[in-house]
This record gives sequence, C-alpha cells and structure tokens, in this order.
Amino acid sequence: MLYLTRADVESVGLDVQTMVGLLEVAFREKGCGRVEMPPKPGIHTRPDAFLHAMPAYIPALGAAGIKWVGGYPDNHRRDLPYITGLIVLNDVETGIPYAVMDCEWITAYRTAAATALSARYLARPDSRVVGILACGVQGRTNLEALAAFFPITRVFAYDTRRDVQDRFVADMRARLGVDVVGVDRPRDAVIASDMVVTSGPILKHPSPAIEAGWLRPGSFASAVDFDSYWTGAALGEFDKVTTDDHAQFEYYRRAGYFQQTPAPCADLGEIVAGVRPGRERPDERTLAVNLGLALDDMAVAPEICRRARDRGVGIWLPR
Ligand SMILES: NC(=O)c1ccc[n+]([C@@H]2O[C@H](COP(=O)([O-])OP(=O)(O)OC[C@H]3O[C@@H](n4cnc5c(N)ncnc54)[C@H](O)[C@@H]3O)[C@@H](O)[C@H]2O)c1
Repeated sequence: MLYLTRADVESVGLDVQTMVGLLEVAFREKGCGRVEMPPKPGIHTRPDAFLHAMPAYIPALGAAGIKWVGGYPDNHRRDLPYITGLIVLNDVETGIPYAVMDCEWITAYRTAAATALSARYLARPDSRVVGILACGVQGRTNLEALAAFFPITRVFAYDTRRDVQDRFVADMRARLGVDVVGVDRPRDAVIASDMVVTSGPILKHPSPAIEAGWLRPGSFASAVDFDSYWTGAALGEFDKVTTDDHAQFEYYRRAGYFQQTPAPCADLGEIVAGVRPGRERPDERTLAVNLGLALDDMAVAPEICRRARDRGVGIWLPR
C-alpha cells in the first residue's frame, strides 16, 4: 500500500486545469446518474467542528474510496490547519485498499476546482474583478483556480485578521501578477466584484455580513462556507442558487444550516450534463453552494496516486 504525506501529494504537481477537467468528468457522470455517493455521516467532538466520512465510487474514472476529514475552526489557535484528514483508495475489482494519503492539499484544491467549474457554467466569461472574504487556505486556492480560467485583473481581499489579509495580498499579487487590494469592510470586497468567494468558518448560528443590494447584477458567488456569510435577504436576491448535491443540501438543511437559502434550482452534475441550464442571461446573479463531495476527492486522488507511483514518490507499507 502506498502512503503519501501532504508534501508527497503536493510534490506530484497536479495543476488546477487538470483538476477542473477531472471534476468535470466526475460531475457529468453524476448528472447522468452513474456515480455512487451516499450523503456523508459525521461526528462532532467540538461545537462547529466535524469529522466526516466521505465515500464515493466513480466507475468512469475507476475511482473508489473514502475521505475521513476533520474541520476544526479553532485549530489556528494551536497553529494547526482547519482541515485535516486522510484518503483511502480501494481497488474497484477486489476492494483492497491500495493507497492512503493526506487529504489537506487535495481538499484545498479540489474545493477550489469545484468553484472554478461552477464559475465556468455560472459566471460571465468576462468576469475580471474578484472579492475574497476570508483569506485562508480556501481563499488562496479559490482565487488561484478562478485566475486559471478568467481574465482577472483586480482582487479585493478581506479577512478579520489583518496579518492574514496582508500576507494574502502580498503573496497573491506576486503569484498571480494581478492587482490585489486589502479592504477594511466585507462590503468593499463585494460591491465592485464580478465573482465573490466566501471562505470563512462554517457556523451553525452565523452573523452573516453580506447584505441585500451589495452584489451587482451579473455577478457570481461561491459560498465555500455554506450560508455563513450571506444574510437571508442577500440570498433572496440571487436569480439562480445551485449546489453540488441536492441530497447533501437537504441533509444539511435538516441539520440546521441553510434555513434562509432558497432551494437550489440545479446541482453541478445536472448543469455539466446539460440537464439543467447554467447562466442564461448576462444580468443574472448566480450562487454556487458547493458543500464539498466525496466525488471531488475521488476525481482527483487516483490521479495523484498514479503520478506518485510513476515518479517513485511515497512510502510503500506492508499490508
Ligand atoms: N465546501 C467545501 O467543499 C469546503 C471544503 C474545505 C473547506 N471548507 C470550508 O472553508 C472554510 C475555510 O477553510 P480554510 O481551510 O480556508 O480555513 P483557514 O483557517 O485556512 O481560513 C479561514 C480564514 O477565515 C478568516 N475568518 C474568520 N472569520 C472571518 C470573517 N467573519 N470574515 C473574514 N474572514 C474570517 C480567518 O482569519 C482565516 O484566515 C471553512 O469553513 C471550511 O470548513 C469548505
């Protein structure tokens, strides 16, 4: 069995375009009803924290396995990542596990790839200005993924921690070569943006900051942090709300989230498969609420494993 550390996973150099391509295949399969992915069960050892079991099988990609992932909003106080965990890949013929890998890098990028995939169907192709609210891991990867597909020229960045925001501004300016501006209020990251990503903590009882009237007509938003950032009135202004999976959306709604979010009109699989439309008019406000699916991980992890094997990366463990 191959074991890949976080550094091993990152070192194989899977680029964001390839990841979005893999997710597009996986979501098309999902839209055609050809994947198996039960809603994720979880346990909760601290308030607003989770440990989730996320299995999926994508026959077209020969991918089967599970992610066991934790999300702990207070980990930063211990200088630890918010998201941590492991992915196990299973052989589709025998069921035997053939790889175990750290899931931090994959989660960071596959979530961003899902935003970019949604944006390709739901954002205006000429979207140039991006607002990032919360400049942590997801803020960075989501911006990087959007920049791979859209002609971004300017970014407005907001984080409650000034040191995090300042580092984001300097790093992303250097990395992407675009104008990145730190702002003092959430409103300033929204009002002039064509695409908005919210990526703060997921809270069951949030105090949302984004108000009705802030998001311009024609804009796209990706709520990586569920409904934590958008007021009910702001959510009500979207012409199209989408998700990545209806069943998981309903599961979370029953668990107390999304109480004021309009019912999604489509999931990403339906949109990619052409069963339901993406953006239909330039002035639509569109929202992707991608909850994060085992499908995303299973689309990406086997390719990481193949590349690692080809390059001799990782540690072989006895069974
Ligand atoms: N939907 C998905 O598929 C998916 C996948 C992975 C992570 N997530 C979620 O994304 C969020 C971010 O994860 P991460 O790994 O980037 O965490 P992170 O700790 O790296 O970043 C979180 C950032 O949010 C900032 N922050 C806290 N409250 C804020 C507020 N009100 N406004 C602006 N900034 C604020 C923090 O200072 C920090 O910089 C978490 O809620 C996580 O659960 C979702």
